[in-house]
Amino acid sequence: MTGNGNARKVVGLSPTRNQSFFGRDIVSVRQFSRDDLIYITQIADEMRALVHRVGATDLLKGHILANLFYEPSTRTSSSFIAAMQRLGGSVIPIHGVQYSSVSKGESLPDTIRTLECYADVIVLRHPEVGASEVAARYATKPIISAGDGVGEHPTQALLDLYTIYSELGALDGLHVAMVGDLKNGRTVHSLARLLRSYDIRMTFVAPEILRLPDALRQEVADAGRPVAETERVEDVIADADVIYVTRVQKERFEDLREYEAVKTYYEITPELMARAKSKMALMHPLPRVGEIHYDVDDDPRAAYFRQVENGLYIRMALLAAVLGKA
Ligand code: NCD
Repeated sequence: MTGNGNARKVVGLSPTRNQSFFGRDIVSVRQFSRDDLIYITQIADEMRALVHRVGATDLLKGHILANLFYEPSTRTSSSFIAAMQRLGGSVIPIHGVQYSSVSKGESLPDTIRTLECYADVIVLRHPEVGASEVAARYATKPIISAGDGVGEHPTQALLDLYTIYSELGALDGLHVAMVGDLKNGRTVHSLARLLRSYDIRMTFVAPEILRLPDALRQEVADAGRPVAETERVEDVIADADVIYVTRVQKERFEDLREYEAVKTYYEITPELMARAKSKMALMHPLPRVGEIHYDVDDDPRAAYFRQVENGLYIRMALLAAVLGKA
């Protein structure tokens, strides 16, 4: 079961809890309304206060998360583990799928149907687009996508949205520039879709071979949002309220010569930042591999490590909401 309008997965629990999250899969940002976004960011604020005040709680005591990663991860996997543990729950971590029955040829549906016998919620990162929807179809427990190939990364988009709001105090009226591998970067795919809910102007900055897919650009335009494209970050640096930089996704290239040709296309330097607005946010989902120079890190507008921290609060909020404890 998946997406909008799916039946409640966890039967027998109170239906008065937030209808958009309780017992539901999180597989695409398409499923969120503006009210849902307000709801989840308000809970994230509470989680932030809770972590700062007492560090942890027993809200999810007795609940178990299965953290199933078929692709590498540092932030997403650790933040889900930290989120579950700070809420008093526990985690089955499966990060080296080569050591699990996946390496014996077990199918995704069988792995999911097994893990849900032990866990209350499953976080899944998988290299194939649509894998979370497939998993959600087979699972009776909620599936939370941690990224499906070049498809979507919905929880990253939520934490990105939360970061933009935390940094700038607004969403409507902003100019957001997304820079880098817009073709393969699932974080920008989810973020561009999510930002359609707001009065936000988007500029997509990429070389020809890394342009945002046409269909997604059309989705943004169809929502009535102004869309511009350029190959030059210099065209947006002075006007953007948010510069969202991404890594060129080496693992998605069939021809590594093409990767070599574009891997250092963009480099955010202190000189470039000197031309940016005094109030703006420089963001990156991380890992970075040269797109933002280390000597930009001390710039107060460099928001990427605050963005990492926000991931903890958003994932705490999501786990609590999906398990009906928010
Ligand atoms: C991103 C991802 O995995 O899509 N990382 C993350 O989750 N923070 C971005 C990337 O790998 O470039």
